[in-house]
Amino acid sequence: MSLRHAVDVCVDWTLEESVIGSFSRVGSAVRSRLEPWPDPPAQHGRVHLVTGASSGIGRAVARRLGSLGAEVWVLGRDEARTRASADEVRKAGGRAEPAILDITDHDALDALVRRLADRHGQLHGLVHAAGALSTVYRSASDGMEMTVATALVGPFRLTARLTPLLEAGRANIVTVSSGGMYLEPFDLPSLVSSPVDYDGARTYARAKRAQVVLSHEWARRLGPSGVASYACHPGWVETPGLAAGLPTFARWMGPLLRTPDQGADTGAWLAAGGARAPRAGSSPATEGFFHDRRPRREHRRQRTRRSSSAQDGTQLWSWIENAAPSM
Ligand SMILES: NC(=O)c1ccc[n+]([C@@H]2O[C@H](COP(=O)([O-])OP(=O)(O)OC[C@H]3O[C@@H](n4cnc5c(N)ncnc54)[C@H](OP(=O)(O)O)[C@@H]3O)[C@@H](O)[C@H]2O)c1
Repeated sequence: MSLRHAVDVCVDWTLEESVIGSFSRVGSAVRSRLEPWPDPPAQHGRVHLVTGASSGIGRAVARRLGSLGAEVWVLGRDEARTRASADEVRKAGGRAEPAILDITDHDALDALVRRLADRHGQLHGLVHAAGALSTVYRSASDGMEMTVATALVGPFRLTARLTPLLEAGRANIVTVSSGGMYLEPFDLPSLVSSPVDYDGARTYARAKRAQVVLSHEWARRLGPSGVASYACHPGWVETPGLAAGLPTFARWMGPLLRTPDQGADTGAWLAAGGARAPRAGSSPATEGFFHDRRPRREHRRQRTRRSSSAQDGTQLWSWIENAAPSM
């Protein structure tokens, strides 16, 4: 290891241990300069689908992929904001197709997949960025609690329906989880909540932890077909979602928050295949939990580790299938 590389590793580790240095815009600014981050691979002729693309991090991921030449299917609920995001992708240099739907609406998801499959035989990237921390209990149209329906059940169905296209494109699946997942262990029963016992922050953290488990399970099941599946956390990012879900924290962190582009960097890099051909000194990866372009540990506290974690992925898979019987 060269002296320069040793210093980089040491600075990166110090940021990671400090949490605030890593999650804030300091982490992004310092790490991207330690060993300058190259542009992700060009995406001309490649097709990506990004959920949560009408706002914040998903919107910035879509724009970044557009700037690399991709065709991006821009999924959002709000028509005006989704179309505006598609315009940004075009302005950045890509092609864009807006898709207006709620990811918890299973029929709408199926219709979207049919529309995409009519146009393309392959999908090269699928970014699951839709998500929210809701301070009040809400349920999707099928009655499931909204955080879990958006973070797990909708993405599961979308990915299942898209699997032939993902395999044909040897795609990169990217799930935008959260550093909040470090606060909770994976625990299936606690994914179910009711209006009486609902705790928005804990429900969010549990769903984000489960997203990482699901991401590994996609890698295990689809990896043999050439599909990569990554989870990442974007750090603390100034978005409408953060302002609505954690308003006091967002105000308190103020100028230390990352910009959406900084928060989107690792997700876009993973979707474009950056981890399959990383910089010298790193091994190619087809799964893992990433932040600032490096795989990160998945536990920071002893209490979130479980002795029986080997079965977590298969149990979560069955749980989601049973939770939405029409899956
Ligand atoms: N901001 C942060 O500091 C931070 C930190 C860690 C993780 N994250 C994660 O990053 C992702 C993006 O969040 P953000 O901060 O960028 O928030 P945001 O600006 O509110 O964006 C969230 C996006 O998700 C979409 N969405 C939410 N529920 C949906 C549903 N049921 N169906 C379809 N789309 C839905 C929203 O659509 P609408 O525009 O229609 O609402 C919006 O496009 C989320 O998964 C979040 O958990 C954010």
